[in-house]
Amino acid sequence: MFGCNTPDNNVKSSILGTSPLMSQNIEKKVDSLLSLMTLEEKVGQMNQYNGFWDLTGPTPKDGAAAKKYEHLRKGWVGSMLNVRGVKNVRAVQKIAVEESRLGIPLIIGFDVIHGYKTMSPIPLAESASWDMEAIQKSSEIAALEASAAGINWTFAPMIDISRDARWGRVMEGAGEDPFLGAKIAEARVKGFQGEDLSASHTIAACAKHFAGYGFSEAGKDYNTVDIGTSTLNNIVFPPFRAATKSGVRTFMNSFNELNGIPATGNKMLQRDILKGDWQFNGFIVSDWGSIKEMINHGYTKDGSSAAETAVNAGSDMDMESYLYIKNLSSLVKEGKVEEQVIDDAVRRILRVKYELGLFDDPYKYCNYDREKEVIGSKANHEAVLDMAKKSIVLLKNNRKLLPLKKEGQKIALIGALANDKNSPLGSWRIAADDNTAVSVFEAMQQYDKNSLVYAKGADVSLGETGFVTETKINTTDKSEFKEAIDVAKSSDVVVMVLGEIGFQSGEARSRTELGLPGVQQELLEEVYKVNQNIVLVLNNGRPLTITWADKHIPAIVEAWHLGSQSGHAIAQVLYGDYNPSGKLPMSFPRNVGQIPIYYNYKNTGRPVEPNPDIVFWSHYSDQKNTPLYAFGHGLSYTSFTYENVIVNKVNSSSYSPEIKVSVEITNSGDVAGKEVVQLYIRDLFASVTRPVKELKGFEIISLKPGETKTVNFELNSETLGFYDNNGEWLIESGEFEVFVGGSSDNTIKSNFDLE
Ligand code: GLC
Repeated sequence: MFGCNTPDNNVKSSILGTSPLMSQNIEKKVDSLLSLMTLEEKVGQMNQYNGFWDLTGPTPKDGAAAKKYEHLRKGWVGSMLNVRGVKNVRAVQKIAVEESRLGIPLIIGFDVIHGYKTMSPIPLAESASWDMEAIQKSSEIAALEASAAGINWTFAPMIDISRDARWGRVMEGAGEDPFLGAKIAEARVKGFQGEDLSASHTIAACAKHFAGYGFSEAGKDYNTVDIGTSTLNNIVFPPFRAATKSGVRTFMNSFNELNGIPATGNKMLQRDILKGDWQFNGFIVSDWGSIKEMINHGYTKDGSSAAETAVNAGSDMDMESYLYIKNLSSLVKEGKVEEQVIDDAVRRILRVKYELGLFDDPYKYCNYDREKEVIGSKANHEAVLDMAKKSIVLLKNNRKLLPLKKEGQKIALIGALANDKNSPLGSWRIAADDNTAVSVFEAMQQYDKNSLVYAKGADVSLGETGFVTETKINTTDKSEFKEAIDVAKSSDVVVMVLGEIGFQSGEARSRTELGLPGVQQELLEEVYKVNQNIVLVLNNGRPLTITWADKHIPAIVEAWHLGSQSGHAIAQVLYGDYNPSGKLPMSFPRNVGQIPIYYNYKNTGRPVEPNPDIVFWSHYSDQKNTPLYAFGHGLSYTSFTYENVIVNKVNSSSYSPEIKVSVEITNSGDVAGKEVVQLYIRDLFASVTRPVKELKGFEIISLKPGETKTVNFELNSETLGFYDNNGEWLIESGEFEVFVGGSSDNTIKSNFDLE
């Protein structure tokens, strides 16, 4: 069970893995190395290049690659990204360490978002497990494989809270809630960095994108963000505070402007809050080219002023805008940038390199034997399968259509995604080999006491799709409908795997319509006409508006993009070998018009009108206010009843309050199952209005049929307070309600007062 993230303004970043003595030694080493560096070499540490040539091939003679090679040799590169594999990393590290004057090793970064080569579920799916141990383990596996491939820094966890499923990057985050997001941030940082950052199997993590990116207007990627202080402090910041408290060693700023100031040039965000109030002593890397993009934003007039603004605002490393290496030395000489600003940035970068042990052994992540032995191991696949099963959410199961019988059944399996070995890898699979996921079709064939007939029904996408190409969707070709309909007609049950291909969510993949893409909705309705025993399995990277399906289809399973072992996880849930326990980390809207929709909304002055004929209240004339599926929703093959919420006011003063809440949960069904018991509060009156519900605790329990357990929660100053519009943490006396249940929209409640 979790208490809560401590909103400790004077957050001291605990440098994981380094004892006070070790950190003193590191500081001495950093200072002495800094004293040897020329200004150009210092600026070089702040310069990050993307992998740019066949590193083990001939030295490039001209063009950008030649220039980058020359800078490497001069010690003017501090980091590379997207260089992977022991052979390549060893090659580029050799240039930096053996050919430059001071031989400062590179830190090698990569987007290890949900696995390196053995892919775990997309982060939004993992968040649906609410299982922090499993999420931490998943990040450990990712670090194990990435570090075996020469990588020592991941650009993860992405911890942007978002309430807008139109935004493609919701797949990369932890959903809509700051409390769950904070716990997941902590789990991921600990998973990547472990207890000892200098170990060869741990890597530096990166809390991103700081800050507010998930609030991009209209869910359009890279769009403007304009939010108030209360939302920033109470919704956006908690996961970043938690990551800082967990000792994350790097941050990445965000592409967006925040209230008129681009994050990359935002001194309040990066210096006053992160490095000041929170006392973060790692380093901040810009997002790709975001320093230069301040010109497009209309915030700086040219490259030189962009570099000046960014470094003075606290951006320590420049990812791929080339403006630091081009401009910083002259800006210092012109007196526009103090050399101590450069020194502070370089000190931070060198500190993390020392903590990683790179100065002790620059090739410590470059072991050929370990690369062969670790990457793709059976144990790693077992771990991502476990994570995948825990990430599946049972949205609906009328007539107990699920679990499927294991023999004597004629099963039709329909949908291009049922036979797709690529999409489950998600859009951030950049190190995994294409078409390596276990498909649903492959996995269901192993349950061979049923007859299983597959029919595609229709393609989702037209032709090849990739990380940088726009995905073209099939909106016309229904030529294979008939085959699917015929197969469905003669089957006992139909499993339809529908949804989004892997590259329909992720960066730069916002959508304005959130129904089943292409002709899939028509396919579903045509099959429904001939057989209503349909199990709909969703493969998707975001909440979808599946209102027709919710109304007609008896069983619906949310199976996201579950990574390398996707098919096995789905099959084991469909056949009941794993009883689903996932809960939604993000509300599912009924239609796009409801967005942004989230459970922790404010009550407003007109929440409801006593006389239903009067229109003057906060509602739509054409749609309900409630989501299709609520935050925290998820069913099981058994059922759970909640009784006897008891509130014990150990200390009811608003000064260091201590409120204990207990509740009894019984497995009232006939199979064992797991339940995520959720605790919410409502502060009924406060000096800044509070949401109608706020998640403040959760615990996963396992119950046998008929078994009852009591779950205990504690509410205290870390969970009963909030940030006001001046960024002050307040705990106020007054009336509180407390809610406990298996979903934000299905709880039993009690109340208490704080004096
Ligand atoms: C991308 C993303 C960021 C990623 C970086 C490096 O544009 O915004 O999350 O880590 O560039 O690939």
